[in-house]
Amino acid sequence: MSGSEKDHFSLPAEITHYYERGLEIQRFKGALGELELLRTKEIVSRYLPDPPVTILDVGGGPGIYASWLALEGHEVHLIDPIPLHRDQAHQASLDQPDHPISSIRIGDARNLEQPDASVDFVLMFGPLYHLTDRNDRILALREAYRVLRNHGHVLVVGISRFASALDGLVRDLLDDPQFMRIVHRDLLDGQHRNPTDKPSYFTTAFLHHPKELAAEVEEAGFHLEKIFALEGPAALLLDLDERWSDRDRREQLLSTLRLLEDEPSILGITGHMMAVARK
Ligand SMILES: C[S@@+](CC[C@H](N)C(=O)[O-])C[C@H]1O[C@@H](n2cnc3c(N)ncnc32)[C@H](O)[C@@H]1O
Repeated sequence: MSGSEKDHFSLPAEITHYYERGLEIQRFKGALGELELLRTKEIVSRYLPDPPVTILDVGGGPGIYASWLALEGHEVHLIDPIPLHRDQAHQASLDQPDHPISSIRIGDARNLEQPDASVDFVLMFGPLYHLTDRNDRILALREAYRVLRNHGHVLVVGISRFASALDGLVRDLLDDPQFMRIVHRDLLDGQHRNPTDKPSYFTTAFLHHPKELAAEVEEAGFHLEKIFALEGPAALLLDLDERWSDRDRREQLLSTLRLLEDEPSILGITGHMMAVARK
């Protein structure tokens, strides 16, 4: 299949193939993954009303956040275009029979099944960086806006424009001319493409400049409250594993990330950003 060929859910075929490898369920293993998971849960918890509220997890993948939120007592609905992710989320739900995920369906962020103003909180951790056309991203954000009740929050994750350059520096990948070409294009227009068969170079995505993420969220009608750097400078630490395994140093690291949250320039040295916005 060519890179531009689309599957039945209008997802570029290479994105489907990437996720069909089944790697996503392991993404939060290791220090950096655990840090991302913990920071995400912490920020979500700051904005989430007391349970029970209705949450829609758009592009919820294998259901890691959805099952956590269901355990917390919320009514959680998950949609994702990848059948493997649906099945993994289903299994995660079966594993907590007293707190199941309320529904898990194949779906697309651009065309949600939920009625207008029917959910209290929307997570969009993935779709926005896999929709490479700006019109599609606005469509997805407008769908989130439509299904949210007034004053409800949407939390949207974007990958930073600078992510591959920073990753290349930290992981010493810049000797690979193919990786260098990827970095050049990412910095030029944010259109991340991986012509290699190395899954560690990720797959088709759009990498946002923080200003672009802010503008898209606002264009969809939301009031933008804040953009957080999820990992921030922690991802640049060569001894992250060591620090993370020491309780005190881990806490020191997390509290430093919290201290940096009000400084917008930190968004330039993070791999992932999270926009928090309100209807
Ligand atoms: C990196 S994964 C993140 C999964 C999960 N949200 C998390 O944070 O762990 C990105 C997810 O976005 C989903 N996705 C990609 N394009 C999408 C679209 N157009 N609509 C909904 N989900 C999409 C993928 O199937 C994948 O599960």
